[in-house]
Amino acid sequence: MNQILEEIEKIGIVPVVVLETAEKAVPVAKALQAGGINCAEVTFRTAAAEEAIRNITREMPEMLVGAGTVLTTEQADRAIAAGARFIVTPGYNPRVVDHCIEKNIPIVPGCMDTHAIEMALEAGLDTIKFFPAEAAGGLSMIKALAGPYVNLKFMPTGGINAGNLTEYLSFKKVIACGGSWMVKPALVKAGNYDEITRLTEEAVALVDGMAERK
Ligand code: 3PG
Repeated sequence: MNQILEEIEKIGIVPVVVLETAEKAVPVAKALQAGGINCAEVTFRTAAAEEAIRNITREMPEMLVGAGTVLTTEQADRAIAAGARFIVTPGYNPRVVDHCIEKNIPIVPGCMDTHAIEMALEAGLDTIKFFPAEAAGGLSMIKALAGPYVNLKFMPTGGINAGNLTEYLSFKKVIACGGSWMVKPALVKAGNYDEITRLTEEAVALVDGMAERK
C-alpha cells in the first residue's frame, strides 16, 4: 500500500470537510488537530476548496491534507498544485484515476460494486473508497465484496459516525473511515471549533480503544 495510505490507516479516520470560505480552512484544521486527527479531506464541492488546501498546506505542513469530490482532471491538477497529498473521488472516473496515477498522487476512487472495483484493480489500485457506505449496504456489503477481491482494502465513507465507526474499523480490510460527522457544515458555518475538537476527540478515543487496531 502507498505510504500516504499507510499514514491514513494509522489515523483510521478521514474527516470530510466542506468549506464555504477558505478563511475557515486553518481554524477547522487546527480544531481537528487539537482533537487528535492530523488529516483532512477538503472537498471540491465548493469553490473555496483549492485555496483552503493551499492555506492548510502553507500554515500546517504537518497536516495530511487531501482533496475530495474530485470530478475532473482539472480539479485534480488544482488540488495537487495547492498541496493535496491524496485525491478521493465519489465514483470511478477512469480519466481522473489514470491522471492521478500518472501524476503519482495516491487516488482513492469511490466504488460501490464489482464493476467499479474491477476497474480499480485493473488500474493497479489496492484501496477503494466504499461510497456511500451505509446506503450501499454497510459492513455486510464490504465483507461480501472482500470475498472475491482478497487483496482489496476499503475506506468506507457516507453515513459513518461515532455510533458505527468501530464496527467498520473492526474489519481488518477497512483501513480508515471517512466522514463529515466531526466537521458538520453547521459547525463550520457557526465557527464552533470547540465542538469540532470535542467530536474529533470522541472519534479518536473510539479508535484508540479498539484492541483490534493495536
Ligand atoms: C463524502 O463526501 O465522502 C460524504 O459526503 C461524506 O459522507 P457523510 O457526510 O455521510 O459523512
